[in-house]
Amino acid sequence: MLWTYNGALPGPELRVKQGEMVQAELINALPEPTSIHWHGIRLSNGMDGVSMLTQPPVAAGERFQYLFVPPDAGTYWYHSHAKTWQQMARGLYGPLIVEGPDEPSVDHDVVVMIDDWRLNEAGQLDEASFGRLHDWAHGGRLGNWLTVNGESNPSIGIKGQSRVRLRLINAANARIFRLQLANPATQYALDGFRTPLVTVQEFELAPAQRIDLIVDVTSDLFTVTEISTDEPYPAFALKVDATLGVAEAAKATLSDPEPESLPDLATARRIPLHMQGGAMGNLAEASLDGVMRPIRELAQSYQKVWAFNGVVGNMKDRLADLKLGETAIIEIWNDTQWPHAMHLHGFHFWVRDPESGKISASRRDTHLMHGGERAELIFVADNPGLWLLHCHMLEHHAAGMGTVIQVS
Ligand code: C2O
Ligand code: CU
Repeated sequence: MLWTYNGALPGPELRVKQGEMVQAELINALPEPTSIHWHGIRLSNGMDGVSMLTQPPVAAGERFQYLFVPPDAGTYWYHSHAKTWQQMARGLYGPLIVEGPDEPSVDHDVVVMIDDWRLNEAGQLDEASFGRLHDWAHGGRLGNWLTVNGESNPSIGIKGQSRVRLRLINAANARIFRLQLANPATQYALDGFRTPLVTVQEFELAPAQRIDLIVDVTSDLFTVTEISTDEPYPAFALKVDATLGVAEAAKATLSDPEPESLPDLATARRIPLHMQGGAMGNLAEASLDGVMRPIRELAQSYQKVWAFNGVVGNMKDRLADLKLGETAIIEIWNDTQWPHAMHLHGFHFWVRDPESGKISASRRDTHLMHGGERAELIFVADNPGLWLLHCHMLEHHAAGMGTVIQVS
């Protein structure tokens, strides 16, 4: 069975102006507890929506008021944050768009939420495979049916010769999409934040990541294809619909954003994070709730197969206690055979490649790391509270890939 927000899949598009209050009442009509996380929004900790960490889960039949003012313009989203691996896979997600004062003028501003569903032979949501240990120890719950805004390969009608802003959001549990555009487009933002303008035609989008593109459509059809598997799969298309009239947006030259200044790295607090586990991994034992256990027992008795610094993640252990205002560098080593999409709640971070020393041109909230890679996530701990750092491959998180950073 699908679970949805307001009966819609994706949930309703929330669109606000920067500085405007978002007020959302969660009315839980599900048969189990839930909560809502506002992914990528730098908000006060009590509104972050993480069950068992920032709020008690909202029980069936109960309500909860979310109130916050998004400080940054961009493409964000919301999703369940209780038993997320199952609630999100059933459809509990939707877009949250924050418009700034100087958005580029476009003919169409289109939100595209891409999901990857696992259907059984009857074409229904494959519920029998929820929680399968094999998925949890491998690449997560990968699907066999792709949807865009809840539909299979939809055509989105546009005016001829129009300028379109595409806001792509990966809402899949674990699938890293590789998308190919019919023609090159301009990358405008990643994870909500402006990037220097670059031309892109093919790119990866990991779970929870977003990319904003500006597309000047010159033909009648602009297709987007998913090519992460051997079989290219049509994702969606923009299609000129003459009844919509003609394009009006001036195709003004876009400009790069003002560069942001980096915090002082010399005095930053360094936090090593060694990721281990999963199939074909090197994790022999790890501590679960303070008790050291061999990996076989962790897997078979607790369905835990991943660890950070030898600790199976829970909501109690802390990776670090940071002072408010301190700069932190999380030095991540993905010492596993699997890719992971590392997401930090409450902050946007720069990514530094320790090998080349190169630092990302913009900040992100979710960073994809392939097996064996190292990366440094740099952020200023300017928001107090308990913030989750976890892999957004939801089965990995459930099986141990998460930890908590305290800022006070
Ligand atoms: Cu998209 Cu812990 O979140
Ligand atoms: Cu992972």
